[in-house]
Amino acid sequence: MRDVAVIGVGINKWGELWEHSLRDIYVDAALKAIDDAGVDHIDSMYVGCMSSGLFVAQEHLSSLLSDYMGMSGIPTTRVESACASGGLAIRSAFLEVASGMSEIVLAGGVEKMNDVDGGGATYALATAADQEYEAYNGVTFPGLYALIARAHMEKYGTTREQMAHVAVKNHANGALNPEAQFPMKITLDTVLNSVAVADPLRLMDCSPVTDGAAAVIVCSLEMAKKLGKNAPVRIAGSGMGTDTIALHSRSDMTFLNSTAVAAEKAYAMAGGVGPRDIDVTEVHDCFTIAEICVTEALGYFEKGQGGPAAASGATARDGQFPINTSGGLKSKGHPVGATGTAQVVEIVKQLRGEAGDRQIKGAKRGLTQNMGGTGGSSVVHILEAD
Ligand code: COA
Repeated sequence: MRDVAVIGVGINKWGELWEHSLRDIYVDAALKAIDDAGVDHIDSMYVGCMSSGLFVAQEHLSSLLSDYMGMSGIPTTRVESACASGGLAIRSAFLEVASGMSEIVLAGGVEKMNDVDGGGATYALATAADQEYEAYNGVTFPGLYALIARAHMEKYGTTREQMAHVAVKNHANGALNPEAQFPMKITLDTVLNSVAVADPLRLMDCSPVTDGAAAVIVCSLEMAKKLGKNAPVRIAGSGMGTDTIALHSRSDMTFLNSTAVAAEKAYAMAGGVGPRDIDVTEVHDCFTIAEICVTEALGYFEKGQGGPAAASGATARDGQFPINTSGGLKSKGHPVGATGTAQVVEIVKQLRGEAGDRQIKGAKRGLTQNMGGTGGSSVVHILEAD
């Protein structure tokens, strides 16, 4: 396998983008990434998107998006793994370049979620759950994560306040990110007194419904050095894992096994690194309890210690493990197919020293964790400043 690097990143301001279509926001992010990389062509493209059919009644994104980028003719592949689609697009591009099949590949992600109403969005998202055993019985994603939260509270004594700390921290970071959908600082009281969504989760424990896109340019490390525009950020490790789609089939619903499996593979590929070697991390905080479970599955904290760690400040920008400097899904937003790609955009900015007021000083190695559904699939990447 060849060494692979990210040499360009692009993202747009996320939110409710009524005046733009799915193709507009994708092409905008993709052209920004191409411009940032300083390349004059791409050999192929991967598009992460969970459900454009249900959200905007548009499938066949390979043709649509290569055409609207002015690149009709290039091989383009849409990949789907629910909310991990963006991470999987990056992994697919990584594999294509590592294999030697292509030299310069664009990995993008997009979702336009606000063109349907709240019920429509909830329905589309629920297709990532087990239809026969979960969705048909009426459970929604906030409902499923509420079950995880209750189980974590019962098993480990995790508290509402500890979960609320995740939201407060991520909004503090998002307030420094011009691309974030909800860039306002909030307090513990804001979270604890927000409207109940699925007990024990409240509005401020939830990621929002978002329109947005993000893209990165991946190429061989050798080509990155030849091009020489940006300091290359090497993809040192890539791991993917799966788990049962239904929560009730798991022996322990508080533990995200797909994330643990993906992380183990990525740590090994990166040369046996571990949590203490990571300077900055982006994780999939679709609900506050998710960030707590993910930090345990990545091995940052012992099982059951994710809640106290969040409350202690260990995951803040000045903590031992800075997590979600972008604002995470909670504050930056969660256009499901774009989230995993945007996580890599943030880590690349951090490793290039271009993260502005949210910069982690001297960051040299970063990790992204992106997952589908309640953790039925996870993708982990480790990136290093070359
Ligand atoms: N965080 C902060 N504020 C939010 C928010 C969020 N997650 N979601 C909505 N808001 C704000 C809106 O801006 C609006 O504010 P305004 O009254 O000042 O304009 C207000 O809350 C109500 O917004 P609305 O869109 O009517 O909320 P809703 O009740 O329809 O939806 C949720 C709220 C939490 C149900 C919805 O965001 C949701 O389903 N989130 C989870 C998405 C999901 O499951 N993703 C996949 C994860 S695996």
